[in-house]
Amino acid sequence: MWDKTQCQCNLAHPKHFLPRFLVLLLTLFPTTTFSQSFDYGDALSKSLLYFEAQRSGRLPYNQRVTWRYHSGLTDGLEQGVELVGGYYDAGDNVKFGLPMAYTITLLSWGVMEFQDEIAIAGEAKHALEAIKWGTDYFIKAHTHPHVLWAQVGDGDTDHLCWQRPEDMTTSRRAYKVDEENPGSEVAAETAAAMAAASIVFRRINPHYSHLLLEHAQQLFEFADKFRGNYDISIEAAKIYYTSISGYTDELLWAALWLYKATHNITYFNYAIQNAESFGGTTWAITEFSWDVKFAGAQILAAMLPMEGKNKEDQQILQEYRSKAEYYICACLNKNNSTNVKRTPGGLLYTRRWNNMQYVSNAALLLTVYSNHLQSTNQTLGCHAGPVGPTEILAFVKSQVDYILGSNPMGLSYLVGYGPAYPERVHHRGASTASYKECKAFIGCMQGYHGWFGRHAPNPNVLVGALVGGPGSKDEFRDRRENFAQTEACTYNTAPLVGVFAKFHSLEKGSSNSTTLPSASLVSSI
Ligand SMILES: *[C@@H]1O[C@H](CO)[C@@H](O)[C@H](O)[C@H]1NC(C)=O
Ligand SMILES: *[C@@H]1O[C@H](CO)[C@@H](O)[C@H](O)[C@H]1NC(C)=O
Ligand SMILES: *[C@@H]1O[C@H](CO)[C@@H](O)[C@H](O)[C@H]1NC(C)=O
Ligand SMILES: *[C@@H]1O[C@H](CO)[C@@H](O)[C@H](O)[C@H]1NC(C)=O
Ligand SMILES: *[C@@H]1O[C@H](CO)[C@@H](O)[C@H](O)[C@H]1NC(C)=O
Repeated sequence: MWDKTQCQCNLAHPKHFLPRFLVLLLTLFPTTTFSQSFDYGDALSKSLLYFEAQRSGRLPYNQRVTWRYHSGLTDGLEQGVELVGGYYDAGDNVKFGLPMAYTITLLSWGVMEFQDEIAIAGEAKHALEAIKWGTDYFIKAHTHPHVLWAQVGDGDTDHLCWQRPEDMTTSRRAYKVDEENPGSEVAAETAAAMAAASIVFRRINPHYSHLLLEHAQQLFEFADKFRGNYDISIEAAKIYYTSISGYTDELLWAALWLYKATHNITYFNYAIQNAESFGGTTWAITEFSWDVKFAGAQILAAMLPMEGKNKEDQQILQEYRSKAEYYICACLNKNNSTNVKRTPGGLLYTRRWNNMQYVSNAALLLTVYSNHLQSTNQTLGCHAGPVGPTEILAFVKSQVDYILGSNPMGLSYLVGYGPAYPERVHHRGASTASYKECKAFIGCMQGYHGWFGRHAPNPNVLVGALVGGPGSKDEFRDRRENFAQTEACTYNTAPLVGVFAKFHSLEKGSSNSTTLPSASLVSSI
């Protein structure tokens, strides 16, 4: 298939793709794809494979994505710190701390909320491994109570090259935040991730859970006491992951995660006392993302029980709740004024670049809140009228089904799922011959000329990746250079893990929730 000495491509047909005539048939009879019921269990399994494709470091013996190999084995060496491991964020080979931590927070949230559904689907072990690959790295990166290594590599030099991570010759410089150069967004988000993961691991691995919680508490204290914007301290993060909303949303979000993990009232009081000055009860926002976390914090606060709280605290929780519900009503198109736009095909539409992140992030929040309403026997009062948990879930299903192929392009935006999906994902590793098949070094520019610029599909299918997705008119161009639409990110897929599990269990009609001892299924972790 490849000229193995040159790593040039001779034959451009990946074996795992459907014959053309079959794709044509499916396109000619779109009703067959539109009316199909989706296999959410398959989507769940695939979504977890994606995290293995994004791994940096030394890959374990049971690595299932076999076109990847060890990479980044000297990360941190120049700065005298061991930073091997963690995740590449997207289609490049930089380890960005803020989106990595956010990815782990969302993964953990989905896993804790839908742990039984994930266990029923047989994916508990893989889901925990996906979280632990991140948290093991955060433990290494948090070298001192007030020092967090928050990035390895930089986008500028990385983007000059098109290289598999296994071949990287770009800078692997590591960047940190500390007392002199604080970074509250990244420190607080990493605290949130470790607190959330500590809940997931509590029963399964109490020692590990306790360790995560200690790190989380220290990181939160660091983020709060030494306040500052991380992208001022780490200039190399600035143009790639600029913090537009500042760090107050991360501080509230982290405090609420710590309260959930510890039940220590200090964290609750923090989220109450700072609710107004930090924007928690004043910002009504219709987007939730790695940068803007107000809606997530508001939903966490809205789900806290009111009993046993004094009048003033109840009042503040009520304000949080009203903002949380604003977000949800806006997604459902049921507010009088601001609603989230939709494409003609019905997909939530926030902006051109990687719009899918807002869709999948909303899907998790809405699914979690629907569960909450269900279990507390409540409805949501939107301007357009009351909305029950089932209606919220039906809307989420419309978004998930759109992602999986029920859309005007007839494509699954979850790569590797169904008969047709993006074939030219903007991803260095996936678009270049696998290191295992082709060990010859592929240089920086050689990658651009030999691999990036080809018209042919990627040689490796990035299974489980959720790409940036279509534009405002449901249109999608499957071109490697069209990174606004064809690049995938870890925080696009992360929120879908729990959501797929929920729909898989609903489809099976089983509500076998409380009976399943999930710990026994994952005893190997
Ligand atoms: C609660 O958390 C605060 C801040 O970390 C700490 O000082 C305090 O000792 C904790 N309280 C309990 C009961 O653990
Ligand atoms: C739930 O709410 C409905 C309507 O308010 C009420 O009729 C029903 O008894 C409630 N069920 C429970 C379990 O609280
Ligand atoms: C949207 O609806 C929610 C829930 O009813 C409400 O709290 C919020 O004030 C509304 N906002 C706007 C701008 O319509
Ligand atoms: C929303 O609009 C409807 C219809 O115009 C109106 O009846 C209702 O009072 C409005 N609700 C709020 C809270 O503004
Ligand atoms: C619940 O689980 C048990 C044991 O695994 C199984 O026999 C039963 O059929 C399940 N019930 C439903 C409703 O799926």
